[in-house]
Amino acid sequence: MKKIVKLLSVLMLMFAFVACGDKKEEAKVEEKGPLYVGTNAEFPPFEYLEEGKVVGFDIDFINAIGKELGREVVVKDMSFDGLLPALQTKKVDIVVAGMTATEERQKAVNFSQPYYMANQVIIVPESNTTITNFDDLAGKKVAVMLGFTGDVVVSEMPNVQVERFNAAYAGIMALQAGKVDAVVLDSETANNYVAQNKGLKLAEGQGESEAYAIAVRKDDSQLLDEINTAIDKIKADGTFGEIIEKYFN
Ligand code: ARG
Repeated sequence: MKKIVKLLSVLMLMFAFVACGDKKEEAKVEEKGPLYVGTNAEFPPFEYLEEGKVVGFDIDFINAIGKELGREVVVKDMSFDGLLPALQTKKVDIVVAGMTATEERQKAVNFSQPYYMANQVIIVPESNTTITNFDDLAGKKVAVMLGFTGDVVVSEMPNVQVERFNAAYAGIMALQAGKVDAVVLDSETANNYVAQNKGLKLAEGQGESEAYAIAVRKDDSQLLDEINTAIDKIKADGTFGEIIEKYFN
């Protein structure tokens, strides 16, 4: 009997300790306020809608970072070309959207350390034999997504008829309907659409590699430091590897 009482009191003590720890966590979250995250949930597997909820690699990634920072993460879904304006006007604190850290964008915002490497690829109908690499796009009708790096790459190419779409899926549908000859899109998302839509394939040629990073306002250098430290931490403790595994293997 005595033993049981002793065991029970030890257990209660442990419980009180844990509960206390939880309270501290909560207090920390409240103190700093939520971290508002801008994204564009039309970019699987990085961000997409599942039963009306924004999910994906980037969401798990930023939630893990939010946990490190002791801040609640609130995701705001908007059009891709509206993301950097929303950041500048403080509607969101950061942008996590499979966004490539381009030199052009770096004039306006800062980027965290890169977290994913990708490149532009060409999606064509399975039956296509004439488009193998980017040079073959000359004289062709090519779908890109407004403001994506693929838009920039293709728009710089001479003699290409560029068709701009608001979402990647719209470009894929145009390709399936024979309204365009090819779609230029980020590799991982392109893989995703090719796997899920019959009759499409990737052309052999690949574009230059680009690095995805989190965008932060220029004057928010403390937040940028905190985010970079948090990325180091989740890379070191295996959390980041688990998220990679979940979405890419
Ligand atoms: N990596 C490309 C870019 O930065 C495409 C990103 C699209 N992301 C999205 N969530 N829609 O332009």
